[in-house]
Amino acid sequence: MHIELTVNGELRSVDVDPMTRLIDIIRDDLRLTGTKEGCGEGECGACSVIMDGHLVTSCLVPAIQAAGSAVTTIEGIGTMENPSDLQIIFNEEGAIHCGFCTPGMIVAAHDLLEKNPEPTEDEIRHELSGNICRCTGYGTICNAVARAAREGYGRKIRPAVSRCRSSRPVFTEEEARRCFAPRTLEEALRALDERPGTLILAGGTDILVDMRSGRTAVDCVIDVFNIPELHRIYKGDDGFIHIGASVTNDELENDPLIAELLPALAHCARRCGGPAIQNRATIAGNLCTASGAGDLPVVLLAFDASVLLAERNGTERMRTEDFVVKYRQTALKPNQMVQEILVPIPAPDSRQVFFKRGSRKALTLSRASLAAYLELDRDRVRLLRFAAGSMSPTPRRLKKTEEALIGRTLDADFVERASALAAEEISPRKQTAYRKKITGNLVRRFFEEIVRL
Ligand code: FES
Ligand code: FES
Repeated sequence: MHIELTVNGELRSVDVDPMTRLIDIIRDDLRLTGTKEGCGEGECGACSVIMDGHLVTSCLVPAIQAAGSAVTTIEGIGTMENPSDLQIIFNEEGAIHCGFCTPGMIVAAHDLLEKNPEPTEDEIRHELSGNICRCTGYGTICNAVARAAREGYGRKIRPAVSRCRSSRPVFTEEEARRCFAPRTLEEALRALDERPGTLILAGGTDILVDMRSGRTAVDCVIDVFNIPELHRIYKGDDGFIHIGASVTNDELENDPLIAELLPALAHCARRCGGPAIQNRATIAGNLCTASGAGDLPVVLLAFDASVLLAERNGTERMRTEDFVVKYRQTALKPNQMVQEILVPIPAPDSRQVFFKRGSRKALTLSRASLAAYLELDRDRVRLLRFAAGSMSPTPRRLKKTEEALIGRTLDADFVERASALAAEEISPRKQTAYRKKITGNLVRRFFEEIVRL
């Protein structure tokens, strides 16, 4: 495959396999070795670069998705001979020890200051939450970013612009039979019709990890990340909020409609991975992975969302709970792909929440998660849905608890009863006592803090 990229302002072109990782292009083909590889799984941030204005971990971006993009690596920010003010400040503030994480930290800080020249301390911590340092400690790193902000670094950044003549990859004759880079849904469905069962590639945050570990081999692929219509979010006349399959966590977090009507979903999106992962991970990808630890599916279950599946000759609608069949298995047929997620518009006085507990605040896998949706008739429960994650092979609704509470009046005993029922209904395979206790506590917190009983 032949692709063009603009790297640090220069037009470059490479001939690579469509699933070659961007980090390998940067380091091996372009010999820009400032970008480091640590974990190779999107968890350390050492390989961070900015691609088309978004921070990404280059170990999780396949070449097919980088075609035509504008990439900024650490060398585009400053070099040993000509360091940027940000690099000088990192050095002066003692924010560098062994230096392995430093290129990724500086790229992430540069991205933050370009978009937000005067970030708060919380915003700095959030932006760097996907970058791990094993020797300096985060205090000096955050101080360095704050000082760069005070000294006006962000206001001097000029945005990177793509100089590529084409944003499409050019496949060899052999690759063109198995790899597709459609730019419309219709093109994607035509490709899937020609080759049913072809892997649908969205953000790549799971597939690239599975490929690296040898769990998955990818020969055939349809890249749907760069299809604009799959990134739409809108309120339909049919009573549903429509969320395109390739909508990323970052898009969910920052969409005004989601913030207004589905704040539990926006909050959940912000709690999955660091910013670089949130820029790539998609809602349909999280659902199709069908993992018990997935977070967005927990919220979708509590909202009783449906999935719109498309094939060349039509669509099919399925409830989320029927779509996720078992661990790592969905009801998707070989000639289908997810087109949209349909979330019922919440009632005006409804309450919703997503809670997650893990071993630490940032970049954590859920040990327990809970989503809840509640509608009241004065002080009587009209509708209640709970969904729990990380307890069973796939996230699941707590239907016995819901049934026992619907129609009841919110009185003094209600919270204790709800908490006990939920703890009883979940059946975690490990850390049973801990997870039951946490789930009971989260249910109590929902009624005490969100519903304010
Ligand atoms: Fe760790 Fe890419 S190498 S995130
Ligand atoms: Fe050594 Fe961060 S300076 S890992």
